[in-house]
Amino acid sequence: DTGKSGYDHYMLKEIHEQPRALRQCLSGRVDERRGEVTLSELEGLETPSAVHLVACGTSYHAALYGVQLFHSLGIPAQAFLASEYATGVPPLGDSLVVGITQSGETADTLSALREARARGARTLAVTNVVGSTAARECDYALYIRAGPEIGVAATKTFSSQLVSLNLLVEYLAGDQRSSEERRAVLQTLRDLPGRVQQVLDESMAEEVAAEYLGADGYFFIGRGLNYPVALEGALKFKEITYEHAEGFAAGELKHGTLALVTENTPVFAVVTGEDAPAKKTLGNVREVESRGAPVIAVTDDDQIERYADASLRVPSGSARVAPVLVNVQLQLVAYWVANALGRSIDKPRNLAKSVTVE
Ligand code: G6P
Repeated sequence: DTGKSGYDHYMLKEIHEQPRALRQCLSGRVDERRGEVTLSELEGLETPSAVHLVACGTSYHAALYGVQLFHSLGIPAQAFLASEYATGVPPLGDSLVVGITQSGETADTLSALREARARGARTLAVTNVVGSTAARECDYALYIRAGPEIGVAATKTFSSQLVSLNLLVEYLAGDQRSSEERRAVLQTLRDLPGRVQQVLDESMAEEVAAEYLGADGYFFIGRGLNYPVALEGALKFKEITYEHAEGFAAGELKHGTLALVTENTPVFAVVTGEDAPAKKTLGNVREVESRGAPVIAVTDDDQIERYADASLRVPSGSARVAPVLVNVQLQLVAYWVANALGRSIDKPRNLAKSVTVE
């Protein structure tokens, strides 16, 4: 199939397209020397006093990441599963309601946005598909520009959502950020496609996948900005391998699920940076190790590798974009496990690329 450009699956092709997708996302929008973000499609959108982010599936994990970016600006933000939001809309105040939807056609997300609009909220769609229903119905649309994604499991579009949320937040930051701060963030975004390429070139995910085949279950833990990617790592793993996997906030595993941790449940621990959150996650790593669980560190820090049975490295640098790099490793692990098990990677059983029923 020429559409796969020599890759066995669209999913692997799309994983490898990420550097290009991210460059497209940033193209013409970022002036890192002047510290400026231009999003012409958002002209007229004022900095909101509060934000609700609504989404499903992988896009919901992007929403959880986005919440933390808004908080860094001092803007109260909450992420909601779209199906729950539409069922009982929380008090809106004058929140901006942001629907994150790759396809722009997910029924639950469209319903949530419609409910918000009916109550007078301003709405913004963050979507990949120009002219999609979400883009047409919302007051504003921010395009993530990832290009078409054929694999049912979202890969490059998740990375592009995370980068788009960074652009959105910097665009709305106004004088909340000094131009120096903003220049630093924008430089980090500019460097990101190259770093993703480095992860793709050097990844040991195929070896790690082979080593841990046949386990009883797989856990993924991360804290702060790495929590959404722990959830996403587990979701990707479930979707395409059909093995049991769960993602947790690193501090939460001990409140119940630790009962399931054994020497046959590998734990992928996402630990980036050397700050306090990373140290706390290391404490959680020791908790699972003392129950005999193998630990695979997904990390940018050699020190942390010492605590793990295996590791997947990402280049060190900004905590803010580390989740994008980590996630590429977790996409590859899921892919290589599914491939070894002979799964239907591009079209997993029971799943659809876009779910148009509530
Ligand atoms: C389906 C897909 C998921 C996707 C979710 C939301 O369940 O299988 O990969 O994350 O829909 O899709 P959206 O297009 O709204 O981002």
